[in-house]
Amino acid sequence: MNGKGYGKTLVFLHGLIAVSIFFLFFSSWWMLGLPLASTEFTFRELPFQLHKNIGITLVFMLGLLLYLRLKYRQSNLRSDMMKPLMQKLSFINHVMIYILILSVCISGYLSSASTPWDTTLWWLVDLPRIFQPDEELNELFSGIHIWTSWALLAVITAHLGGALYHAFRNDGIIKRMLRW
Ligand code: HEM
Ligand code: HEM
Repeated sequence: MNGKGYGKTLVFLHGLIAVSIFFLFFSSWWMLGLPLASTEFTFRELPFQLHKNIGITLVFMLGLLLYLRLKYRQSNLRSDMMKPLMQKLSFINHVMIYILILSVCISGYLSSASTPWDTTLWWLVDLPRIFQPDEELNELFSGIHIWTSWALLAVITAHLGGALYHAFRNDGIIKRMLRW
């Protein structure tokens, strides 16, 4: 923390995570809207691969964001910028975002791992096969993936509502997350 904002890396990561999540929602609609795969129709592959690759990379980005944020946890003490109730609400919201992103990614990975299709991370690293193809397991994890995605969308909506509130109050909270 440089006294003005959270610093370049953290600000960049936060933005990248936000863009990735919007892409993941968009790509789910894109990939599932395409006709089922066959020898003739293979164009589902690209959106699926992008969805999985970005989703897996997101876990690492989230881990780094948490690490940097904990490293600069002194900034939590800047209570003059937020009332105690607001601090509690934003803390709960942020914790929920971390937990839900992780749950969505894990359930997505497990759902994908129980299909016959393997995952090659960024077309470079073959991820090990942890399950044999299993339709029931796939349905279970796919259901968890969908429900946790909806829950994530709800907490992100609250997050954006909070951001809008701080933007109107012009209390410096937005600036410290956007300033380089
Ligand atoms: C998908 C979209 C987004 C996600 C997943 C997301 C995620 C997060 C997370 C996890 C944190 C907590 C960081 C921490 O303290 O550990 C955070 C903080 C923050 N986010 Fe977002 N964010 C998103 C979009 C936005 C947008 C569009 C804005 C508007 C500018 C915004 C403004 C903020 C602010 C101001 C904070 C810091 C509040 C503080 O300093 O206490 N976020 N965000
Ligand atoms: C925050 C991260 C993620 C979000 C927001 C997200 C969101 C979604 C959404 C909304 C769907 C559509 C569900 C439906 O209507 O049936 C979906 C499908 C899917 N996602 Fe994700 N996803 C994420 C991460 C991942 C990851 C990390 C993987 C795997 C490595 C993955 C694999 C899949 C697969 C295989 C499907 C299609 C099959 C199914 O319905 O489960 N996702 N995702």
